[in-house]
Amino acid sequence: MTRLKGKSALITGSARGIGRAFAEAYVAEGATVAIADIDLDRAKVTAAEIGPSAYAVEMDVTSQASIDAAIAAVVAKAGGLDILVNNAALFDLAPIVEITRESYDRLFSINVAGTLFTMQAAARQMIKQGRGGKIINMASQAGRRGEALVAIYCATKAAVISLTQSAGLNLIKHGINVNAIAPGVVDGEHWEGVDALFAKYENRPLGEKKKLVGAEVPFGRMGTAEDLTGMAVFLASAESNYVVSQTYNVDGGNWMS
Ligand SMILES: NC(=O)c1ccc[n+]([C@@H]2O[C@H](COP(=O)([O-])OP(=O)(O)OC[C@H]3O[C@@H](n4cnc5c(N)ncnc54)[C@H](O)[C@@H]3O)[C@@H](O)[C@H]2O)c1
Repeated sequence: MTRLKGKSALITGSARGIGRAFAEAYVAEGATVAIADIDLDRAKVTAAEIGPSAYAVEMDVTSQASIDAAIAAVVAKAGGLDILVNNAALFDLAPIVEITRESYDRLFSINVAGTLFTMQAAARQMIKQGRGGKIINMASQAGRRGEALVAIYCATKAAVISLTQSAGLNLIKHGINVNAIAPGVVDGEHWEGVDALFAKYENRPLGEKKKLVGAEVPFGRMGTAEDLTGMAVFLASAESNYVVSQTYNVDGGNWMS
């Protein structure tokens, strides 16, 4: 498969989960992929498992110096940057009256500022190269509507959808497509943490929330990271050149918009 042959990609937060699955799919399509993560040790293991077309890069999306260093590392290693996936994010959950400023600042710093300033650094590099590029932001069904216990995370993902629209409109004149994917509920380590938080605040046994949300998906089960890779490859490939500022739901039918 060669839909991304010769392309250089950077995926934030790809040491595990959805980002890792995207990295595997991009490598399978011929790309070279930077496994960029705050957890460098795990990024190294992941890169080694994926193979010689993947390499680890230390990156904290809350730090401008780290963002700039990661982009520079990719340019040095792969000769340029063609595809960015803004995938790193943090989840938290609390009733409105218990939300803390610390949680608010942390989530907005990673999910929103991290997405915006990584997108900015990548776009500057892509404009300099003069050959266009692809930027894919990870939104969520959480960004489509509020949830009683999930105010901050929902707000960050609504911001990602909005940033995708503005950046897409601003950057398409450079041949840079900015689009987003809005998953529903995706099984993996991330959801272990989500389930534990719901167990605490909704007074449930561990594992119950996960079962419930899976049963409610029209498709009949939770998603897997692999359910999302088709869209991720499409949005990174030339097949999506005329697609601008969109957020695609890949959620088994949970949300229609
Ligand atoms: N899993 C789901 O159900 C689900 C649903 C909708 C949207 N999403 C979104 O998909 C994306 C991936 O989700 P996932 O389930 O694979 O998450 P995950 O928690 O499994 O992985 C997140 C990765 O980001 C890394 N990371 C955390 N903070 C970082 C930072 N400051 N800088 C760089 N890396 C950092 C972590 O080390 C981890 O490897 C996220 O944007 C998430 O919001 C997930």
